[in-house]
Amino acid sequence: MENAFSILKQWVQESRRIVFFGGAGVSTESGIPDFRSTDGLYHQQYDDPPEEILSHSFFLRRPEDFFRFYRAKMLFLDAKPNAAHKKLAQWEREGKLSAVITQNIDGLHQAAGSERVLELHGSVLRNHCMNCGKFYDVQSIVRSQGVPRCDCGGIIKPDVVLYEEGLDTQTLREAVEAITQADLLLVGGTSLAVYPAAGLVDYYTGSRLALINRDATPLDQRANLVLRGKIGEILAQL
Ligand code: APR
Repeated sequence: MENAFSILKQWVQESRRIVFFGGAGVSTESGIPDFRSTDGLYHQQYDDPPEEILSHSFFLRRPEDFFRFYRAKMLFLDAKPNAAHKKLAQWEREGKLSAVITQNIDGLHQAAGSERVLELHGSVLRNHCMNCGKFYDVQSIVRSQGVPRCDCGGIIKPDVVLYEEGLDTQTLREAVEAITQADLLLVGGTSLAVYPAAGLVDYYTGSRLALINRDATPLDQRANLVLRGKIGEILAQL
């Protein structure tokens, strides 16, 4: 571990176009549970499987139940950025990092000061009426009961990519562009279980692909460097 850490430290010092690709494991040190760890959201018991509730067809079929789950389990508005978010924002300010590509919807990278954040799965902070397109902030969802309605009567839908929905093509395009230009691709806090997000890593053709994750991932064999541990703690020391 010490050896891998010192190599990563050197790579970071030499890099000018770091790209970070992360997932829910980046926010667990901010108190937001991830999905697939043993204490993750998908291992908690519900009357319906969480991955089914978070799907487009469930949203349309049972919006009341969707929003009950969403308000209870998907909003962590008191969460604060942790050392991982802060270090990435610092590297961007120093001109070392060109983009954060995240699967998270919590807005913590921006809260830490990151500006170039590509949110592959959207954000709970942005919500729009499905009928007239009017924007609503997250408080409109928190303060409302049941299915949140726009002034025009339409349903207010969070800008979060649900299962069965596609990712924003412009965001995907920018993520591919950033990764192909990266001199160091740092992947962390993600099980790399969900596509097309996980497939983005394949666009990196360099030889400095570093992985920081608490558990093993399918990328471990392909990565040039693997650090096993808590990403906030590790980035704080880099
Ligand atoms: N430090 C490092 N790694 C961590 C930490 C931590 N503090 N906490 C958790 N992890 C790791 C876990 O070991 C796990 O491999 O982060 C990973 C989180 O994996 P998932 O829970 O699957 O989250 P993620 O990869 O972001 O899921 C991708 O799945 O359900 C969809 O849309 C949802 O964006 C999500 C996508």
